[in-house]
Amino acid sequence: MSKIIIQPGQLGPKKEKPSVSISELYHENSKLQPSLPIEMIAQGNYKEAEILAMARGYKQYRLSPQIKLPEKESLSPNPKTFDEVVASRRSVRDFGEEELSLSELSKVLHQSYGVTGEIKRPDGGTIPLRSAPSGGALYPAEIYLGIRNVSDIKPGIYHYNVPDHALELLFPGDPTEKLYEVCCQQQYVKEASVVFLISGVFQRTKRKYGERGYRYVLLDVGHLGQNIYLSCTSLNLAVMTTCGFFDDEANKLLRVDGVDETTLYVAFVGKKNSSK
Ligand SMILES: Cc1cc2nc3c(=O)[nH]c(=O)nc-3n(C[C@H](O)[C@H](O)[C@H](O)COP(=O)(O)O)c2cc1C
Repeated sequence: MSKIIIQPGQLGPKKEKPSVSISELYHENSKLQPSLPIEMIAQGNYKEAEILAMARGYKQYRLSPQIKLPEKESLSPNPKTFDEVVASRRSVRDFGEEELSLSELSKVLHQSYGVTGEIKRPDGGTIPLRSAPSGGALYPAEIYLGIRNVSDIKPGIYHYNVPDHALELLFPGDPTEKLYEVCCQQQYVKEASVVFLISGVFQRTKRKYGERGYRYVLLDVGHLGQNIYLSCTSLNLAVMTTCGFFDDEANKLLRVDGVDETTLYVAFVGKKNSSK
């Protein structure tokens, strides 16, 4: 699909209200209405092959070197109760210098978007389910990691291979300077151990829900973001999310096209600064 270009500033916050608000236009036109045909509302009329194709909601970079992540049991269960985790969840903007362990990263990934269950298909096969809810169980998000300071793994840009619970090395080398520019020169890039870059693959959800599916992708990514927050809080890690990144530069870095797949959310994760 080709990209529609809007001039810089045309969509940003403005003093004068623009004559047409693209968000209002979109929202109005992606509403469900009782007058719509029932197939458009229920969206349930799929052939088995289509359901199978939809159930494969993940990317794998099969030619990239793979690093198997430690099993989730490699960290002892967290003693914090759910009540304590929710009550203490905060955006922490003060990162320590200590490296993150690979087990901690593994746990955050598993708790954020890993496979936690399955449902049976009528043909006896299974559809994997994840730690985050997802419209239609279609899982449109992908997680890329700019790794700077994690034990037992070299710096680089990695992709989270969900079904294998593994990291795939996309680009070796310290990603700090590139990510610093991509993330609008936010200092946290230089302090956090890992920068999570979360993308949305729109077609995974839109082929079932049409234009309304765009809403679901953003909602799904929000659920995933909250899981990152809660997981980090339970592990006593520092975490902060941001939408402050240059979209096209982030997409270029990840080699995604910015149309069918685009970066939507960023999270900085690391140890807390214990020196204070
Ligand atoms: C979509 C989104 C974007 C955010 N962007 C930033 C950001 O660019 N810089 C920042 O310091 N915090 C950012 N935050 C964190 C919020 O400022 C923070 O969640 C809010 O102040 C409430 O604080 P708490 O998370 O500690 O409860 C963002 C949070 C969300 C959900």
